[in-house]
Amino acid sequence: MADNRAIGVFDSGIGGLTVLREIISAVPGESTIYFGDDGRAPYGTKSHDTIIKYSLQDMSFLKEQDVKMIVIACNTASTHAYEALSKVCDVPVVEVVNPGAKAAVESTRNGRIGIIATRATISSGVYESAVRKFGKDIPDLKVVSQACPLFVSLAEEGWWDDEVTRLTAQRYLAPLKEAGVDTVVLACTHYPLLASTISKVMGPDVTLINSGIAVASVVKDILKSEDILSDGKNTTRHFYTSDDPMLFEQVAAPFLGSGLPKGTRRVQVDKYDVKEFLC
Ligand code: DGL
Repeated sequence: MADNRAIGVFDSGIGGLTVLREIISAVPGESTIYFGDDGRAPYGTKSHDTIIKYSLQDMSFLKEQDVKMIVIACNTASTHAYEALSKVCDVPVVEVVNPGAKAAVESTRNGRIGIIATRATISSGVYESAVRKFGKDIPDLKVVSQACPLFVSLAEEGWWDDEVTRLTAQRYLAPLKEAGVDTVVLACTHYPLLASTISKVMGPDVTLINSGIAVASVVKDILKSEDILSDGKNTTRHFYTSDDPMLFEQVAAPFLGSGLPKGTRRVQVDKYDVKEFLC
């Protein structure tokens, strides 16, 4: 029997819409509920404990909407909070790190992989470990990790193909170029928007991995293997934010395209008491 409950997707803000976009394209008949925690973003500068607490609250809100699956679209939340969420959640939880790391290992030809992300993601070391796990058979595998915190603001500012962004990228990406990486994982929700500039700086022979595409394919596989596909009728798209819905829609539109998001509602996400889940 079809399961027409929605897929819940959350991020620290609007960046996760780049993942939602890929999910909609991979499984267009599935309803989705997106929550962006704009009121408390960014997560990339927060501590481990705070990221876990916020992510548990985001999950609690989505669970209340009776979703059939939760996608942690945020790389920072995936690296810090996936374990905590998957322990307490009774529906499948999908994170973005492993799909992105696997795609990078499958793509590299010279065994040199770059990871770019927020400070919190890079300092967790989780992404690098995932790449090393999938690439354990690659001789002399080299992984270069680089935090690029300013990229988030540049993406939100809409400076996707801009001189300032190019100069910033040149500075951040210098160690990756020096190491001769042939594959770069865009391990932050916002970075796919800067792909054109990043690609110009890295050069035409470097492959950029947009983990959103890999995540969408994992979502599709789990829907099939768990037998929770919808019948594709009455598909809905709902959007929630913890900040001003008008602001959310203004900044979010270019992330999603095709006239969305619409009808965004505000949620007070800090009302969810998650103390019992915290160590
Ligand atoms: N969504 C975050 C990520 O993918 C980027 C923005 C933030 O720092 O909250 O890591």
